[in-house]
Amino acid sequence: MISKTIEEALNKQVNREYYSAYLYLAMSAHFESVNLKGFSKWMRVQAREEQTHGDKFLEYLMARGGKVALLAIEAPKAKWASAGKVFEEVYAHEQKVTGMINALVDLAIKEKDHATFEMLQWFVKEQVEEESSASDILAQIMTVGDVPGHLFYLDHHLGKRE
Ligand code: FEO
Repeated sequence: MISKTIEEALNKQVNREYYSAYLYLAMSAHFESVNLKGFSKWMRVQAREEQTHGDKFLEYLMARGGKVALLAIEAPKAKWASAGKVFEEVYAHEQKVTGMINALVDLAIKEKDHATFEMLQWFVKEQVEEESSASDILAQIMTVGDVPGHLFYLDHHLGKRE
Protein backbone atom coordinates (compact mmCIF):
# COMPACT_ATOMS: atom_id res chain seq x y z
CA MET A 1 0.00 0.00 0.00
CA ILE A 2 1.00 3.60 -0.47
CA SER A 3 0.24 6.50 1.83
CA LYS A 4 -2.70 8.83 1.07
CA THR A 5 -0.19 11.67 0.58
CA ILE A 6 1.73 9.79 -2.11
CA GLU A 7 -1.50 8.51 -3.68
CA GLU A 8 -2.84 12.05 -4.02
CA ALA A 9 0.44 13.40 -5.38
CA LEU A 10 0.69 10.62 -7.98
CA ASN A 11 -2.93 11.17 -9.08
CA LYS A 12 -2.09 14.84 -9.62
CA GLN A 13 0.95 13.87 -11.68
CA VAL A 14 -1.20 11.54 -13.84
CA ASN A 15 -3.29 14.62 -14.59
CA ARG A 16 -0.24 16.78 -15.41
CA GLU A 17 1.14 14.14 -17.79
CA TYR A 18 -2.19 13.91 -19.63
CA TYR A 19 -2.34 17.71 -19.65
CA SER A 20 1.11 17.67 -21.29
CA ALA A 21 -0.30 15.32 -23.94
CA TYR A 22 -3.21 17.74 -24.46
CA LEU A 23 -0.86 20.71 -24.69
CA TYR A 24 1.29 18.98 -27.31
CA LEU A 25 -1.79 17.90 -29.26
CA ALA A 26 -2.90 21.56 -29.32
CA MET A 27 0.56 22.52 -30.57
CA SER A 28 0.36 19.77 -33.20
CA ALA A 29 -2.98 21.12 -34.44
CA HIS A 30 -1.54 24.65 -34.47
CA PHE A 31 1.43 23.56 -36.60
CA GLU A 32 -0.92 21.72 -38.97
CA SER A 33 -2.94 24.94 -39.35
CA VAL A 34 0.16 26.91 -40.39
CA ASN A 35 1.29 24.16 -42.76
CA LEU A 36 4.31 23.02 -40.75
CA LYS A 37 3.42 19.35 -41.02
CA GLY A 38 6.77 18.03 -39.78
CA PHE A 39 6.49 20.08 -36.59
CA SER A 40 2.93 18.86 -36.29
CA LYS A 41 3.99 15.21 -36.54
CA TRP A 42 6.79 15.72 -33.99
CA MET A 43 4.24 17.15 -31.54
CA ARG A 44 1.83 14.26 -32.08
CA VAL A 45 4.59 11.78 -31.26
CA GLN A 46 5.46 13.90 -28.22
CA ALA A 47 1.81 13.85 -27.11
CA ARG A 48 1.78 10.04 -27.37
CA GLU A 49 4.91 9.91 -25.24
CA GLU A 50 3.19 12.01 -22.57
CA GLN A 51 0.26 9.58 -22.57
CA THR A 52 2.71 6.76 -21.85
CA HIS A 53 4.08 8.84 -18.94
CA GLY A 54 0.55 9.20 -17.56
CA ASP A 55 0.03 5.45 -18.06
CA LYS A 56 3.24 4.67 -16.15
CA PHE A 57 2.02 6.62 -13.11
CA LEU A 58 -1.43 5.01 -13.36
CA GLU A 59 -0.03 1.49 -13.59
CA TYR A 60 2.27 2.12 -10.66
CA LEU A 61 -0.60 3.50 -8.55
CA MET A 62 -2.69 0.41 -9.30
CA ALA A 63 0.23 -1.98 -8.68
CA ARG A 64 0.68 -0.44 -5.22
CA GLY A 65 -3.02 -0.76 -4.38
CA GLY A 66 -3.58 2.99 -4.65
CA LYS A 67 -6.92 4.51 -5.59
CA VAL A 68 -7.00 6.09 -9.04
CA ALA A 69 -8.82 9.45 -9.04
CA LEU A 70 -8.88 10.97 -12.52
CA LEU A 71 -9.06 14.75 -12.40
CA ALA A 72 -10.38 17.13 -15.07
CA ILE A 73 -7.80 17.99 -17.70
CA GLU A 74 -7.30 21.72 -18.21
CA ALA A 75 -7.84 22.98 -21.77
CA PRO A 76 -4.61 24.21 -23.38
CA LYS A 77 -4.47 27.32 -25.54
CA ALA A 78 -4.78 26.84 -29.30
CA LYS A 79 -2.66 29.50 -31.01
CA TRP A 80 0.96 30.63 -30.90
CA ALA A 81 2.72 33.54 -32.62
CA SER A 82 5.54 31.46 -34.13
CA ALA A 83 7.37 28.11 -33.99
CA GLY A 84 9.94 29.70 -31.67
CA LYS A 85 7.19 30.78 -29.28
CA VAL A 86 5.82 27.22 -29.25
CA PHE A 87 9.19 25.74 -28.36
CA GLU A 88 9.88 28.43 -25.75
CA GLU A 89 6.68 27.21 -24.12
CA VAL A 90 7.62 23.53 -24.51
CA TYR A 91 10.98 24.20 -22.85
CA ALA A 92 9.39 26.19 -20.01
CA HIS A 93 6.72 23.50 -19.59
CA GLU A 94 9.28 20.70 -19.39
CA GLN A 95 11.28 22.66 -16.80
CA LYS A 96 8.07 22.96 -14.79
CA VAL A 97 7.47 19.20 -15.09
CA THR A 98 11.05 18.56 -13.91
CA GLY A 99 10.22 20.65 -10.84
CA MET A 100 7.11 18.51 -10.24
CA ILE A 101 9.10 15.26 -10.55
CA ASN A 102 11.75 16.60 -8.16
CA ALA A 103 9.03 17.58 -5.69
CA LEU A 104 7.64 14.02 -5.90
CA VAL A 105 11.12 12.62 -5.23
CA ASP A 106 11.40 14.91 -2.17
CA LEU A 107 7.99 13.70 -1.00
CA ALA A 108 8.93 10.02 -1.48
CA ILE A 109 12.04 10.63 0.66
CA LYS A 110 10.01 12.43 3.33
CA GLU A 111 7.46 9.59 3.41
CA LYS A 112 10.25 6.97 3.38
CA ASP A 113 8.58 5.39 0.32
CA HIS A 114 11.51 3.59 -1.32
CA ALA A 115 9.47 1.97 -4.10
CA THR A 116 8.06 5.31 -5.24
CA PHE A 117 11.52 6.84 -5.01
CA GLU A 118 12.84 4.06 -7.25
CA MET A 119 9.97 4.37 -9.77
CA LEU A 120 10.56 8.13 -10.01
CA GLN A 121 14.20 7.71 -11.04
CA TRP A 122 13.02 6.80 -14.58
CA PHE A 123 11.25 10.17 -14.74
CA VAL A 124 14.26 12.04 -13.34
CA LYS A 125 16.34 10.71 -16.28
CA GLU A 126 13.52 11.24 -18.78
CA GLN A 127 13.25 14.92 -17.82
CA VAL A 128 16.92 15.47 -18.69
CA GLU A 129 16.09 14.26 -22.23
CA GLU A 130 12.82 16.20 -22.42
CA GLU A 131 14.47 19.50 -21.49
CA SER A 132 17.43 18.85 -23.77
CA SER A 133 15.35 18.04 -26.88
CA ALA A 134 13.11 21.11 -26.34
CA SER A 135 16.07 23.47 -25.90
CA ASP A 136 17.93 21.92 -28.89
CA ILE A 137 14.95 22.45 -31.22
CA LEU A 138 14.44 25.98 -29.88
CA ALA A 139 18.10 26.76 -30.61
CA GLN A 140 17.77 25.32 -34.14
CA ILE A 141 14.71 27.47 -34.83
CA MET A 142 16.56 30.56 -33.67
CA THR A 143 19.59 29.66 -35.83
CA VAL A 144 17.59 29.32 -39.07
CA GLY A 145 15.25 32.21 -38.25
CA ASP A 146 11.84 32.01 -36.62
CA VAL A 147 9.74 32.59 -39.76
CA PRO A 148 7.82 29.90 -41.69
CA GLY A 149 9.85 30.29 -44.93
CA HIS A 150 13.11 29.50 -43.11
CA LEU A 151 11.80 26.47 -41.30
CA PHE A 152 11.36 24.16 -44.28
CA TYR A 153 14.45 22.00 -43.68
CA LEU A 154 13.77 21.74 -39.95
CA ASP A 155 10.14 20.88 -40.65
CA HIS A 156 11.25 18.07 -42.95
CA HIS A 157 13.75 16.80 -40.36
CA LEU A 158 11.27 16.87 -37.42
CA GLY A 159 8.65 15.08 -39.53
CA LYS A 160 10.85 11.97 -39.53
CA ARG A 161 10.20 11.34 -35.83
CA GLU A 162 8.33 8.06 -35.26
FE1 FEO B 1 6.09 13.73 -19.20
FE2 FEO B 1 7.43 15.76 -21.10
O1 FEO B 1 7.33 15.01 -19.43
